[in-house]
Amino acid sequence: TRFDGLPAALLDWYARHARDLPWRIGPGERARGVTPDPYRVWLAEIMLQQTTVPHAARYFHAFTETWPTVEDLAGADDGDVMAAWAGLGYYARARNLLKCARAVAEAGAWPKTEDALRSLPGIGAYTAGAVAALAFGERAPAVDGNVDRVFARLLAAKGPWKEEKARIAALVRALVPADRPGEFAEALMDLGATICTPKRPNCLLCPVRDWCAAHGEGEVERYPVKPEK
Ligand code: ADE
Repeated sequence: TRFDGLPAALLDWYARHARDLPWRIGPGERARGVTPDPYRVWLAEIMLQQTTVPHAARYFHAFTETWPTVEDLAGADDGDVMAAWAGLGYYARARNLLKCARAVAEAGAWPKTEDALRSLPGIGAYTAGAVAALAFGERAPAVDGNVDRVFARLLAAKGPWKEEKARIAALVRALVPADRPGEFAEALMDLGATICTPKRPNCLLCPVRDWCAAHGEGEVERYPVKPEK
């Protein structure tokens, strides 16, 4: 396809520019065969749906200190979890967090596929894809708003946004490299957060510029084109 070479270029960039975040494992650990803890991956993703990376990091440290494992969280007092969540907002998410932890503890283990993860409380398409790719190495896409923006630009997507999003989801799934799904997902997150930003994207430093149709048009900031509200 016209995106041949893109995953390799992105992974090469990620090897040099990965953000060091508390819920990630480092390249050294990865090389030794360590895989990220699904509990930590999941907890971070739920928090990050709610807030920025620096704010989520503070809550992530607090939660993992108090409840180091999903079994610990499952056994927590509801009020303690709600109190710890204060400041993150949207308490339905905290209630689902507890429900999900209890379902996993009850089952004795995390479901290990994207499809099975979707059946857990509070886990939608994005979170299921992220946990499957990051913690279990499944070729699943983790497409959030940032990744949508990156691909809207790569494709210079001008069609109805709902259709473009479906096209992007299918394309990302097809591009996930079989040997490094987790790093591919993290690399897309970092690209969207640090290079392919909503305003003033830094195309000069972009590792996938050669594949970018919006860059070719000289109109990167125009994308994504979303329906008027
Ligand atoms: N945004 C959503 N998920 C993320 C993650 N795991 N790391 C950094 N930013 C993110």
